[in-house]
Amino acid sequence: MSILTETVAPGVVQITMNRPERKNALDRASYRGLIDAIAAAEADETIRAMVITGAGNCFTSGNDIKDFAAVADSGPRIAMDFLTAISGATKPVLAAVEGFAVGIGTTMLLHCDLAFAGKGASFRMPFVALGLCPEGASSYLLPLIAGTKKAAELLMLGEAFGPETAREAGLVNAVADEGKALALALDKARALASLPPQSVALTKSLLKRAHRSQVAETIAEEGRLFGERLISAEAQAAFAAFLMKR
Ligand code: COA
Repeated sequence: MSILTETVAPGVVQITMNRPERKNALDRASYRGLIDAIAAAEADETIRAMVITGAGNCFTSGNDIKDFAAVADSGPRIAMDFLTAISGATKPVLAAVEGFAVGIGTTMLLHCDLAFAGKGASFRMPFVALGLCPEGASSYLLPLIAGTKKAAELLMLGEAFGPETAREAGLVNAVADEGKALALALDKARALASLPPQSVALTKSLLKRAHRSQVAETIAEEGRLFGERLISAEAQAAFAAFLMKR
C-alpha cells in the first residue's frame, strides 16, 4: 500500500506516504490513496484532525518522474485532484516533514494548517530545472506568505533549502529535533481534536475565506500550463536525464 492510514489517537488519523524505496514518490496510486484518505477523514464524524507524513525518514520526493515522463496516460489531473482535496479539506490538516520534501512535497505544505519539520529536513521546488512551472497555487500563496523576492528565489532558482528557511518563509510552523516532527505534529493534532470541532472548522474556513477562489483559480491555471510543460522538449529532456542516471 503506497498510502497507509491509521487512527493513532482519539480523533486523529495519520496518513503516511509509503513508498520508501522511491523516497515516497507519488504515483497515481499514491495520489488516489491520499485523495481517498482525506475524503474518508472528512466523512468520518469521529475524526477531527489529519496528519500527513512519510515513511522511512522521508516526506516525499514529489511526483513520480516516471509518471511525468509517461504523461500521455497519466497527466497532472490526479495531482490536481489531490491538491483540490487537500486545499478544500474542512478539518485541520497537519504535516510532519523529515528528510526530503520535493516538488509537491513542499507545495502541499501551503495547504496544511500546521506543519512541522525535523532539523534534517530538505525542501526543494525544482519545477524550473525540470522544465515545468509552479503548481499547487504556489505561485499565488508563496509570494503571499514569504514575500515576492523569497518566492522568486525558491521557485525560479529552485535550489534546496533547509527547515529554518522553510520556517522563515512560512512553510512550516516550527523546527523540531531530527526525528521528532511527527511527535510534535501529533501533539498539536491531539490538541486540535480536543477543541470544539465546529468552532475549529469555522475558524479554518474563515482563515481560508479571503483566498479561496484565487487559490482554486490558480491551481487550475497552473495545472493547465503544467500540462503543457509536461510534453515540452525541455521537460521531457529533464525527465530522461533523471531516469537515465538510475
Ligand atoms: N520519481 C521517481 N523515482 C524517484 C523519485 C521520483 N520523484 N525520487 C527518487 N526516486 C527513486 C530514485 O530513482 C531511486 O531509484 P533507484 O534505487 O532505482 O535508483 C530511489 O528512488 C532512491 O532515490 P535516490 O535518488 O537514490 O535517493 P537520494 O537520497 O540520493 O536522493 C532525492 C533523494 C529526493 C534528492 C532524489 O531522489 C531526487 O532528486 N528525486 C527527484 C525529485 C524530483 O525532482 N521530484 C519531482 C519534483 S516536481
